[in-house]
Parts: sequence; structure tokens; C-alpha cells
Amino acid sequence: MPKVIAMAGKGGTGKTTTSALLLKYLLAKNSTPVLAVDADSNANLNELLAMEVDKTIGQIRKGIKDEMPPNITRDQYMEMQIHQALIESRGYDLLVMGQPDGPGCYCAANQYLAMTMDHLASNYKYILVDNEAGMEHLSRMNLRSIDYLLVISDPSARGILTARRISEVTKPLAIEVHKKCLIVNRAPDPMPDELMAKINQAAEESDLPLAGILPASNDLINQELSGDSYLELAEDQSIIQQAFGVFDSILS
Ligand SMILES: Nc1ncnc2c1ncn2[C@@H]1O[C@H](COP(=O)(O)OP(=O)(O)OP(=O)(O)O)[C@@H](O)[C@H]1O
Ligand SMILES: [Mg+2]
Repeated sequence: MPKVIAMAGKGGTGKTTTSALLLKYLLAKNSTPVLAVDADSNANLNELLAMEVDKTIGQIRKGIKDEMPPNITRDQYMEMQIHQALIESRGYDLLVMGQPDGPGCYCAANQYLAMTMDHLASNYKYILVDNEAGMEHLSRMNLRSIDYLLVISDPSARGILTARRISEVTKPLAIEVHKKCLIVNRAPDPMPDELMAKINQAAEESDLPLAGILPASNDLINQELSGDSYLELAEDQSIIQQAFGVFDSILS
């Protein structure tokens, strides 16, 4: 069974950035194949990976409502469709969820999709899910458990308390979360002692173990501006080393 890693955190804290860095890490450690899932309705993980998206799961779901070719089972059809939406790359595939449908829609299309995704999932060593804050898509993916929920926060005590609330939105989804931890992102470098103490205290009060701190990095900003893939960042760059150190401590 694949290990599932999912991101959580309020808007703009760095979920997509962390997803791209974590994908780079898994590829560097040969922890492959990885299925990277962009579960944000305003997909943009593909941009950090410099990949074009052709088809999303949302588009497939819409298509199923009005077209179903003859002479093919529904399972075969679904598998074909999902394979069309998979963007294959070296060591990993990217799947973009796209727009969710209206609230409370448990139409047959969703069920077939979830079943096929389940089947697909078994091909991978890791499934990495970049979420939006609301985690709308998690329940649609038929994920029964998350091995690691990485909650991303800005570097403030208040941010961490918000992170705690957000990490709790998985509860009503009936998804078992095995390990939950906090990553503080965009921290000043060097980190003032007083802020560090505040962050440690907030993490403790939140019941979210602090897995690590990622500094604000001009290298990341420049990479985003250039439009080049984050996977091409050099491994000796300090942000990559720090990120890899954080991921080592979480996954080992
Ligand atoms: N450590 C960092 N150093 C510098 N810039 C960063 C860092 N982390 C994130 N950013 C920048 O902050 C912005 C928001 O980051 P990102 O898109 O990863 O957040 P998000 O949590 O995925 O946002 P959303 O909730 O909109 O999906 C991006 O422009 C990104 O380049
Ligand atoms: Mg994002």
C-alpha cells in the first residue's frame, strides 16, 4: 500500500511550495513512483513543476454524465479516462482534480472515479496530495487514511493556532490520520530567539509537534518567477538542504 502524505494549512502559507519540495525529496531518495495529486480547485502545483495540464478529474466527471461509449465496461472506460488525465513524468505522475462538483453530490460518477483511483493508487509508493484549505477533494478520492498530514503555518503564534484548527477539518471526513506535524514556513533567517520561543510554545499548546522550519527564500521566489520547475533547484542550495532535513525528520 502507498504511503499517503497530505498538506493542510490556511491560504498562502506554502502548501503547494512544500508539495513541490517534498516531491523533489522523494525523487532524490528514489522513493518512487510517486503520484502527485493537485487537489486544489485552482490547480497550480503543475506550474511549479512546469507541466501543462490537459484534463482534470473534474472534467472527466462532467463528461461521464452525458457520454458513455458502447461496447466497453464502465470500469474500462473509467480507467481509460483517468489514464488520459495522468501526466506521466520521470519517477512520478501528476493528477489534477480540478473543480469539485456541488456540495452533497455523491453521484455514481464520483463512486466510479473513487474506485478507479483506488485501483490506480496501488501502483505507487507515495501519494502526495496538495490540498486547498478546505480539503474538499479528500473525501472524493476514497482515501481512508493519511499517513502524514503536514500542516503548514506562517511564522507566528496565531498562525500556529489557526493551523491547529485547520488540521482538525480532517475529523468529520472520517479519514484516519496517523501522524500530524507542523512545518513553519517563510521564517525570518536567522530566527529571533523570542519568536522561536513563541512558536515552540504555540506548537506545544496546539498538540501539533513542530517538525521543522523553512526560511523565507529568495531562491524559491526567483524559481517561481522564472517559471522553471522546482525539481530543477540545485540540491546544494540552502533552502533545498533545509527542506530535505525537515522531510528526513518526518519520514524516517
Ligand atoms: N519559504 C518561502 N520563501 C519564499 N517564498 C515562499 C516560501 N513559501 C512560499 N512562498 C511563496 O508564497 C506564495 C504562496 O505559496 P504557496 O502557493 O505555496 O501557498 P499555498 O498554501 O499553496 O497557497 P494556496 O492556499 O493559495 O494554495 C507563493 O508565491 C510562493 O512562492
Ligand atoms: Mg496551493
